[in-house]
Amino acid sequence: MSTLPWWRDAVIYQIYPRSFADADGDGIGDLPGITARLEHLRDLGVDALWLSPFYVSPQHDAGYDVADFRDVDPLFGTLADFDVLLDRAHRLGLRVIVDLVPNHSSNEHSWFQAALAAPPGSPERARYVFRDGRGDQGEQPPNNWVSNFGGPAWTRVTEPDGRPGQYYLHLFDSSQPDFDWTNDEVREEFESILRFWLDRGVDGFRVDVAHGLVKAQGLPDADLSIDPHVDTTTLLPMWDQPGVHDIYRRWRSIVDDYSEDLVDVWGDDADRVLCAEAWVQPSEALSRYVRPDELHQSFNFGYLMTPWIAGELRASIADSLAATETVGAPQTWVLSNHDVVRHASRFGYPQRPGLARMPGIGADDPQPDAELGLRRARAATALMLALPGSAYLYQGEELGLPEATRLPDDARQDPTWERSAHTDRGRDGCRVPLPWSADDPSFGFGPSALSWLPQPDELGSLAVDRQDGTEGSTLELYRRLLTLRRSRGLGRGELSWSDDQDGDAVAFHIRSGDLDTVVIANLGPSTLPLPEHLTPLVSSGPLDGQGLPPDTTVWLRHLHRP
Ligand code: GLC
Repeated sequence: MSTLPWWRDAVIYQIYPRSFADADGDGIGDLPGITARLEHLRDLGVDALWLSPFYVSPQHDAGYDVADFRDVDPLFGTLADFDVLLDRAHRLGLRVIVDLVPNHSSNEHSWFQAALAAPPGSPERARYVFRDGRGDQGEQPPNNWVSNFGGPAWTRVTEPDGRPGQYYLHLFDSSQPDFDWTNDEVREEFESILRFWLDRGVDGFRVDVAHGLVKAQGLPDADLSIDPHVDTTTLLPMWDQPGVHDIYRRWRSIVDDYSEDLVDVWGDDADRVLCAEAWVQPSEALSRYVRPDELHQSFNFGYLMTPWIAGELRASIADSLAATETVGAPQTWVLSNHDVVRHASRFGYPQRPGLARMPGIGADDPQPDAELGLRRARAATALMLALPGSAYLYQGEELGLPEATRLPDDARQDPTWERSAHTDRGRDGCRVPLPWSADDPSFGFGPSALSWLPQPDELGSLAVDRQDGTEGSTLELYRRLLTLRRSRGLGRGELSWSDDQDGDAVAFHIRSGDLDTVVIANLGPSTLPLPEHLTPLVSSGPLDGQGLPPDTTVWLRHLHRP
C-alpha cells in the first residue's frame, strides 16, 4: 500500500474533556481521566485523538471561552497532567490534536480586562473589535450582526468613568469577545501560542471557527435572511473572508518547520497538522482552506448535514471528493461532534431533502425513533468509514449513544438556550458524560455519582462494559470496521461508483493496491439482493438470506480475489 502521510487517511476521535472520564469525582471529566482510558481508543483502532479545549476558562461556553491559552484549567488538571497524557498517548501509538480558539477569547482574558480599563482608541482596545454605537447617544449597536447563539453580536461596555460607552463584537456569547485579526499583535500572539503547544509535542490543531477570524472592512450590515451554514453562494461580512487564507499560509509554514521534531516518536511520518472548523458551503469554497500551502484538512460539514437519502448522499460524496481533488487534499468525513444532534438521533426522524442543521431537542419536542435512528447511524458510519480520506468520530458514537432529548431545561448549560430566548435547546444533549460500566455510580464516568449533566437511565445498557466482547454491539461493529478499514487500505484507496446508481442504494468500490472492496448501503424500504460473486466482510446489521435489509451497509469482497 502507498506511503502517504498519516493524516491523509487518519481516523481521529474527538474527546470532549468534561464528559469523557472523571478521575477526581467532581462530576466533570479531566485530563487524568482521559489518560486512564486511552486504551479504549487504542482498542477501538483510531489513529489520533482531538481534545476539545481544556485551557483556563470561566466555562461560559464549556471552555471555548479561553482566559489563558497556555495553561490548563484546574477543573481539568495541570500542564504536567497534559504532558503525561501526551506521552502515554504517543506510547500507545495515538497522535494528539488540541483545539485552538483564535476567533475570540474569554472576557476574563487579561487582554480583554486591559481593554475594558483602557480608553477608546487605545492599543489595548485595538486587540478586539471595539466600535462606537450608532445614533445620537450611541444607543444602537454599530451594525446589525447577530450572535451565533442568538441575540445581538454587540455588547455595550461601561467606560472607566462610569458612562455607557463603546460596543465590542462577539460572534458567539457576550463572554467571548472577538479578536481583531488586522492587528499584528494578535497575529504574533497566536503564532507564539502555536509554538508553545508544538514545543510540548502536540501533533496538530483543530482550528475553531476558522472561517470567522477576518471580518469585511467597515463591518457592513449583513443580510440576516441567510443561514450561513447552508447557503451556498452568498458571502456574509463575518464569514469566509478572503483574508483568512493569509493567516493559514503563515501557520502552515510554522507547523511544517516542526515536522522533523517528533521523529523519535513517529519516524519519518511526523507531520503536525491543522484542521479547520469552517462552516462554509459549497465544497469548492471549503476546499480553499486546504490548498497545498494552507491547512491540511477541513471538516466536511456538508456531509454531516446531508440527510439519509441515497441520491443526496451520492451527490455529497461525489461533490466532496471532486472539490478536494482539485487542490490535492484528502477529504474528511464526519457525522457527529459536540455542536450537533448525535447522528443516532438525527436519523431517527423522517428525512427531508436539503442540508439542515438541527436545533437542540427538548422533552416536549417530537422524539426520534431510537431503534430506526441507531440502525441508520450504524449504516451511516459503515458507509463513512469506507470512504477515502480521513474520518472524525465523536466520543460515544462508538457506543451508539443517542442524543439526550429529555434533559430538564434547568440543567442546561449551553449559552444557546438563554441567548436564543429559549427557542433553541442548544447542544447539551450530545454532551452528556459517557457510560463506562453499567452498574457503577455515574455509570463509571467517575468514582462518584456526580455528573455535570444528568445521565439518562438508558445510558447504562449502552455502557462500554456491556458492549465489550458482545457480538453485534455497536462498539464491536466500530472495532471491526476500523480494523478492516486499515487492513484493506480504504482510507487511501480510490473510489469508483458501481454501475447501477439509481434508486435507494449508495454503492461503490474502493481499490487500494491489490484489494477491491465493494460497499453497498441500502437506504430504501425493501431488501436489496446482493450479487452472488461477492462475500461479506462486515455489515452494520444482520444480513438476511435474501440480501441487504433496509438501512444497512455491507462491505464485501470478490469470492476469488483479495
Ligand atoms: C465552535 C465550537 C463551539 C463553540 C464555538 C465558539 O463552533 O465547536 O462549540 O461554541 O466555536 O467558540
